[in-house]
Amino acid sequence: WKRNAFFFSPAKPPPARRNKPTDFLPSTFPLLRPPPPPRRPAMALYRRAASAIRRRGAGALPLPLLPARAMAMASSLFGHVEPAPKDPILGVTEAFLADPSPDKVNVGVGAYRDDDGKPVVLDCVREAERRIAGNLNMEYLPMGGSIHMIEESLKLAYGEDSEFIKDKRIAAVQALSGTGACRLFADFQKRFLPDSQIYIPTPTWSNHHNIWRDAQVPQRTFSYYHPESRGLDFAGLMDDIKNAPNGSFFLLHACAHNPTGVDPTEEQWREISYQFKLKNHFPFFDMAYQGFASGDPERDAKAIRIFLEDGHQIGCAQSYAKNMGLYGQRAGCLSILCEDEMQAVAVKSQLQQIARPMYSNPPVHGALVVSIILSDPELKNVWLGEVKGMADRIIGMRKALRENLEKLGSPLSWEHVTNQIGMFCYSGMTPEQVDRLTSEYHIYMTRNGRIRYQQRLELFSFFVLFIISLAPLV
Ligand SMILES: Cc1ncc(COP(=O)(O)O)c(C=O)c1O
Repeated sequence: WKRNAFFFSPAKPPPARRNKPTDFLPSTFPLLRPPPPPRRPAMALYRRAASAIRRRGAGALPLPLLPARAMAMASSLFGHVEPAPKDPILGVTEAFLADPSPDKVNVGVGAYRDDDGKPVVLDCVREAERRIAGNLNMEYLPMGGSIHMIEESLKLAYGEDSEFIKDKRIAAVQALSGTGACRLFADFQKRFLPDSQIYIPTPTWSNHHNIWRDAQVPQRTFSYYHPESRGLDFAGLMDDIKNAPNGSFFLLHACAHNPTGVDPTEEQWREISYQFKLKNHFPFFDMAYQGFASGDPERDAKAIRIFLEDGHQIGCAQSYAKNMGLYGQRAGCLSILCEDEMQAVAVKSQLQQIARPMYSNPPVHGALVVSIILSDPELKNVWLGEVKGMADRIIGMRKALRENLEKLGSPLSWEHVTNQIGMFCYSGMTPEQVDRLTSEYHIYMTRNGRIRYQQRLELFSFFVLFIISLAPLV
């Protein structure tokens, strides 16, 4: 009984604390405080508390006496938390950084590099930053972000003279780059169309699945890539569009499909748009590479423009990570074309409402850089030249990789390397072949065989050929 009484008797209240004269010393004079009394070594205290809890349960000690860490240790509050699986893309970089080999090459990370493998900052960005430095303030942006940056982003995606912009039919907010734009949209979809699903291409950028999963929107997939031809599975794609319930949400890569680099032709986009219209589907465009694919932002927005001409309501996620090299600045935009201005005002207010408890308002620096570049015709021209330069360089690397593989005597067809577009090549290598490249030759890439173009192509081509000739592809 005595032992049980320990559990049931209320904890004694701590003795009333009397103010000591030192409590009133102003904190501006910390040195005037007497030294604190010697304290019991922390670890000993934790151990004592933890063992008391183990023996007598968590109620054994009055709460104020329980050091927080001891409680966590003893009751193992997070004991069930398993390490999260590694991200298939960012995990590659982690493994690459941990490899001490001087010969290591990382062709997995989704960021553009110069010939020495170094990150690139565009001249237009440097100039915009020079104009910002010391001249502009860094106060909070509104919940929806920079109006200026949003206006410029809409012109880029919907067209300089878009009637939808003039009619104020587009609800748009600045977003935390492309990922943040997708996530905001997914949350919006869940909140206002809770019974809807999202159709996602197979394959896709792996984070799409995480984004819609965490927003609790059920996912379906639609055919996209045709492994045999290493091109578009157009027939499968059209079938899946036809077979989806009317009014379904579809995620479409506006250009430079990640990871395959396979885009529909203009004619195919027109057919897709037509079929969407018949089925009343909603297209959500993820445009992470505008300008980066062909070198021309207008050309890369072609799919969106076709859907707009056909009278669709669309959603669009824009990112400035790749095309302006603002990866870490998290600059992006989410827009939804509405039926009229009133609807756009309502939708925008709800998007802001979703953003408010998540991050309150978006970051200011990248938004300033983007709006300065896009609103100054001279600086915008510099950007257009630089983005074309990056795209052309990648197209040149595609050619070089194909030529190298052919020169090395590869019996396989590498035509898809030059047919695909954008920063990545979907090589067709199996996960096992990728594992061998990594473990034996320190070449790092995602296990789906996605390669980012970069220097040291000869070396890379050699290893690709070597592995493939050991385990030929069918
Ligand atoms: C298809 C696609 N969407 C969105 C993103 C998002 O990138 P960020 O959030 O850095 O703008 C990426 C980046 O790799 C991507 O490939």
